[in-house]
Amino acid sequence: MISKCLFPVAGYGTRFLPATKSMPKEMLPIVNKPLVQYGVEEALEAGLFDVGFVTGRGKRAIADHFDVNYELEKEIEGSSKEQYLNSIRDVMERGKFSFTRQTEMRGLGDAILNGWRLMGDEPFGVVLSDDLCLTGNEEGVLAQMVRLFNQFRCSIVAIQEVPDDQVSKFGVIAGEKMKEGLYQVSDMVEKPSLEEAPSNLAIIGRYILTPDIFNVLENTPPGKNGELQLTDALLTQAKNGCVMAYQFKGKRFDCGSVEGFVKATNHVYNNVYLK
Ligand code: UTP
Repeated sequence: MISKCLFPVAGYGTRFLPATKSMPKEMLPIVNKPLVQYGVEEALEAGLFDVGFVTGRGKRAIADHFDVNYELEKEIEGSSKEQYLNSIRDVMERGKFSFTRQTEMRGLGDAILNGWRLMGDEPFGVVLSDDLCLTGNEEGVLAQMVRLFNQFRCSIVAIQEVPDDQVSKFGVIAGEKMKEGLYQVSDMVEKPSLEEAPSNLAIIGRYILTPDIFNVLENTPPGKNGELQLTDALLTQAKNGCVMAYQFKGKRFDCGSVEGFVKATNHVYNNVYLK
């Protein structure tokens, strides 16, 4: 059984400065709910109730969000405003939350490595909460991936087809097609140029990782931009065993960019909030 999920939330969020100067980018709201709460709700829906965060300096608001705000809650108790707390109260009731810190921003791979103590030697999900994945009434993306994990028992990355001018922003895979939407990974390149890119299948911010990833990460040298790249460690896993890539069903918004954030806001306002 897989029951844990890791949220690396230590990044600086420079693309949202000055908004993110003293506020975590993961706390930016899509309409009335912070990005990170969407991600946690997706994890809970997938049955991943043990939620770990890798935070950093200036990220305390995330821990506060998943805790009681006694004064505020007492103040609005019994009033019509109390209903606005329903979704976060539900999340707090269902999830268990733990936190650790990444002291230097050495990349996503390093953030994951910092989560080792929280995840232990069990398979776990990973959510990059600036990738907002919405599936309407369908099963969430992580739940789709947990189902696949139970079948294949190996690391799984979520992928999406992207246009040529976007490939250099992602990790990109090559692989053998097992069936519609499912590939066994044979190669992976982090942020390739169009010429280097082995395909248009880009890795997005949802993963299921087997715990041997921690030993692999420990032995992986810094890669692109001098950062410890999760993609490099996943390629080692793929070469030693198996990594699957799953073209998920649903919409993804890159809320780490201003354009994606605005698109997500419009989508959620029209299709979720007003409904
Ligand atoms: P990004 O590449 O989006 O970086 O990280 P960022 O710092 O958050 O944002 P920009 O590019 O400066 O605007 C992808 C994910 O990995 C986490 C981030 O928090 C984000 O969820 N991350 C990245 C870490 O936790 N630690 C790192 O050292 C790097």
